[in-house]
Amino acid sequence: MDSSEIRTRFLEFFREQGHAVVPSSSLIPDDPSVLLTTAGMQQFKKYYTGEADPMRDFGSRNTASAQKSFRTSDIDEVGDERHLTFFEMLGNFSFGGYGKTEAIRFAYEFITDAMGLKISYVTIFQGSSTVPQDEESRAIWQALGVADIREEGMNDVFWGPTGSSGPCGPTTEIYCKNAAGQDIEIWNIVFNQFFYPGSREELLAGTPDKELQPLATFGVDTGMGLERLAMASQKTNTIFETDLFAPLLALLPRELDERKRRIIGDHTRAATFLIADGVRPSNRAAGYILRRLMRRVFALERLAAIPPHVIGAVVHEVIHDYGDAYPELKREGETIRREFDAEREKFLKTLDAGMKEFGRLPAVGATEAFTLYQSYGMPFEVIKELDPQKTAALTRDAFDREFTKHQEISRAGAEKKFGGHGLVLDTGELKAKDEAELEKVTRLHTATHLLHQALRTVLGDSVHQMGSDITAERTRFDFAFDRKLTPDELKSVEELVNQQVARDLPVTKAELPIEEAKKTGALYFFKEKYPEQVNVYSVGDFSKEFCGGPHVTHTGQIGHVRIVKEEASSAGVRRIRAIVEG
Ligand code: SER
Repeated sequence: MDSSEIRTRFLEFFREQGHAVVPSSSLIPDDPSVLLTTAGMQQFKKYYTGEADPMRDFGSRNTASAQKSFRTSDIDEVGDERHLTFFEMLGNFSFGGYGKTEAIRFAYEFITDAMGLKISYVTIFQGSSTVPQDEESRAIWQALGVADIREEGMNDVFWGPTGSSGPCGPTTEIYCKNAAGQDIEIWNIVFNQFFYPGSREELLAGTPDKELQPLATFGVDTGMGLERLAMASQKTNTIFETDLFAPLLALLPRELDERKRRIIGDHTRAATFLIADGVRPSNRAAGYILRRLMRRVFALERLAAIPPHVIGAVVHEVIHDYGDAYPELKREGETIRREFDAEREKFLKTLDAGMKEFGRLPAVGATEAFTLYQSYGMPFEVIKELDPQKTAALTRDAFDREFTKHQEISRAGAEKKFGGHGLVLDTGELKAKDEAELEKVTRLHTATHLLHQALRTVLGDSVHQMGSDITAERTRFDFAFDRKLTPDELKSVEELVNQQVARDLPVTKAELPIEEAKKTGALYFFKEKYPEQVNVYSVGDFSKEFCGGPHVTHTGQIGHVRIVKEEASSAGVRRIRAIVEG
């Protein structure tokens, strides 16, 4: 049975049982406590808690959907036989409409009758100090003739909550065999009996003052991975041989190893869906997840010398294969292709330099990896792909710790300057009275570094800073030069600055003893007295300057820079005013 038929058969089966079929919600959830949609139940959270009325919204207490889902937690496992980032989750849901008996019976009938599959075994909840063993589910399975019933605990068969709080409860799972005879979890049937006022981590750790509260109405929430069901139905060994993946992987060079083929297949499919739902590659939140997926694909592409049209063909195939079930893919086809090309171009600008630097390092641990990330935009998984031996000691945890440490350092640096004068920032040079102004001033500040270097490139190295003053409106930059600039020179300077913005260069900081800092060739302000330790800020390979910050993390955040005025400030000193737009 091909996968589009499975999707339809599932939804039709539940429609016949009185369920309203609801379209997949976006991968960008309404729920701000989670970054991306991780399960079918997410769009229904408010019906379990009673905040919304399913009868009013769906005309039924029961719904079914095929939901686009994404789990970041599995990203490091992708490449093995069964992990994915993006997947489709088939689910039926009930908000006080039916209980365990019907939920289990529906699942049993769908798997055995509608799909013609054999259940290998099922699991039930073994009980904990706060929730009793699920004897009711055991009895229902037994009555249906399922003999192999296994007990499991909180970690495996207790669902939720998703995000910072929500419905949760014990589950019962169905396992079927793949072609190789392995037992694969196919379907997770959750009984939402409780509300927990904290996260799953807090629940598992047993947090004082946070207790499971019974939900007013009994809820059913089931989730079945379409890829795994297709594997059982199509009798393949892995999900990658099903019709959901085989046509994508067939486009990749045969000699590429299986793990890499799977990563490219998974990540390209996931990125295509994310872009269609409005995510754009960036260094924040969901945008950063997308960027990581895309850059890993481009790194593998580059390492194996795969021409770019191959990934283009995979994207095209995703849109073609999934476009009927998810029309947004067709609608956004042009945008998807454009985003792939733009991100590749951006990444390849720094990848070679990053690979060279990587080649020079004898071993790469968390500190080195973080520098590679900051300076060359290479995410953790890209660095891992470059050389498994050299990065053997590098773990995701250590990398993440390094990440957090740097955020703390830059926050501490900014905070020191806060307070006084009713301004949130006043360094003498930079002034901002609130967060919005601070953001603008930060962009203008990095723009000023670019301007300084661009003036030196265009007019010569005799140019040096004599002073600057930055407010939310504009930067005012004074520099030593003995004549008025020509319109052409101004145009060149402005273009050079905006080229650096377009390159989205990373801005990095190194703290160095003053003498060492001077040796790096960084620009500094002769008039100023510097402390023993100074910060040197680098903007990609373009500029290097002593500075206290704050700066944007990537030049793309600056926006378009426009020079609005050039005039004399005093004898031998010129003054430029510039603004940022967008
Ligand atoms: N919420 C459960 C899961 O995602 C069942 O749908 O596995």
